[in-house]
Amino acid sequence: MLSSRSLIAAPLWGAVALVAALFFLIACEEEPSDPQERFERLGQRVYNSYCATCHGANGQGVQGAFPPLRQTEWVVGDEGRLIRLVLHGVGGEMEVLGETYNNVMTAHGFLSDQQIAAVLTHIRSSWGNDAETIRPAQVQRVRQASTQQGTWQASELWEATGMPGAADAPAEAGAADEAADEAAGNAP
Ligand code: HEC
Repeated sequence: MLSSRSLIAAPLWGAVALVAALFFLIACEEEPSDPQERFERLGQRVYNSYCATCHGANGQGVQGAFPPLRQTEWVVGDEGRLIRLVLHGVGGEMEVLGETYNNVMTAHGFLSDQQIAAVLTHIRSSWGNDAETIRPAQVQRVRQASTQQGTWQASELWEATGMPGAADAPAEAGAADEAADEAAGNAP
């Protein structure tokens, strides 16, 4: 038979186990110390919060409504164009992998340079995509140079390639971006 002491102790141990389990879960959620890993984790999180509702959890899109992000020239092509797309949004007729869309994507300029760089790096390296990293300093440069009012027309955005300031000296601009990110403690 259970003594009255163990009757009191049982719920107590239950509570202790619960607290321990909670601590364990919190420890698992802790941010990784490696900046590169943190950057990757951030990209995944921004994607899930701000892009997946339309483009799908795996970038598969929704036929006729939201274009896929796998192997599209918009995603793995020019960096400046891709950054502009996310900053200001895009609408009008857009061709993606031979299909024509005519819908609207809202602007995401409210996201930080770090968040935009991380999410774009994420989509450029997921689902079979294998394009170069996008740096926070690159997003900052495009944002600062931008004179775009309102949402892009897809046809105009298609032509809006290149990084500001990079036309004359791309190597120098790249090195400056890297140094700026390092100074700010921003991965990658
Ligand atoms: C409200 C729905 C919605 C959200 C949220 C959204 N998009 Fe889009 N996105 C669209 C639509 C619609 C288009 C096509 C616009 C058109 O038809 O002109 C598009 C086009 C694109 C394209 C170019 C076409 C392609 O598929 O390669 C990219 C890249 C893109 N979005 C990335 C993103 C990223 C990154 C995010 C999150 C930061 C995001 N989108 C959030 C709806 C959305």
